[in-house]
Amino acid sequence: MSGLETIVKFSYLSDENRWDAKRYQFDWLPELDEHDRGIIKLLDCLRDGEFSGQASAAQFHDLMIQAKAEGYSDDLVADWAPLFSYMNVIVYEEMRHGLVLGLLHQYVTDGNTDFIAATNVREFGKRYIWCYEERRYWDLYSYILSHLFSEVINTELYRDVVTRVHHPALKDALANVRNDEARHIAAWTALTKDLINADPEHKRRALASLERGLTYHNAMVHETYFEGLNKMLPLFISEQKNKLGPIKRISKQKFRILEELFGSDNPYSETEVQQIHLLYLGKAAGHTRARYSEEAEANIEFIA
Ligand SMILES: [Fe+2]
Ligand SMILES: [Fe+2]
Repeated sequence: MSGLETIVKFSYLSDENRWDAKRYQFDWLPELDEHDRGIIKLLDCLRDGEFSGQASAAQFHDLMIQAKAEGYSDDLVADWAPLFSYMNVIVYEEMRHGLVLGLLHQYVTDGNTDFIAATNVREFGKRYIWCYEERRYWDLYSYILSHLFSEVINTELYRDVVTRVHHPALKDALANVRNDEARHIAAWTALTKDLINADPEHKRRALASLERGLTYHNAMVHETYFEGLNKMLPLFISEQKNKLGPIKRISKQKFRILEELFGSDNPYSETEVQQIHLLYLGKAAGHTRARYSEEAEANIEFIA
């Protein structure tokens, strides 16, 4: 497919699968049981992560402007057009996810349903768009790969949450988000593959930035990312029999994508993908805040 065919395909898939947000008025909220309320209480940082899709897009443009200033060629810049176009589609969808989670979380924490009206726009802009200055972990290639591989985590997380909650309307709302995330995996995979195939230089640079792209979640742009990772990890790994179940699912998916993107040039086995992921989780354990540092190992300085 040409890059334009890919972006058009995933744009119309977004249109066709657009779910009714019911004007963000969920009259079933009072029916939620204690179990469901307990799970929703763990999702405040996930709400932040969804909204920070805006910061991810802002930093993405920022990185391209920086690359151009450093002499990245016009032809290589132009190859990114469909990915920038898709960024516009995805930011809107992540915003919808953030609004759903924001409403749910506000209701279970203080009983109110005026989340949208009560949100201060200036505060919102600072927390979710202009929040990345201290967290510039990526170059252009590791960042697009992070966007792609993070959607694997998002999809698997929502899959687990949908399985756990009781209320059918809550299940539906979260399943809508899960389905969007799964479509995002497919779209970023196809668009990144088009990019890699457009010029050998893209492939070379993508491989050089792969380790970070495979591991760092693009939601690391926002302040509460590591707090959320630690808070939600039990939702992931408390499956009865096999504690590694979700990690295995994630590694399998990531490996499949690596094979699709890089073919015989893929440097990692499925086992290595899993080891890299577990190593990252081990480093993140117990931390709530981080920032970029030249000196820190892997450039992540944990500050809380
Ligand atoms: Fe999302
Ligand atoms: Fe997504």
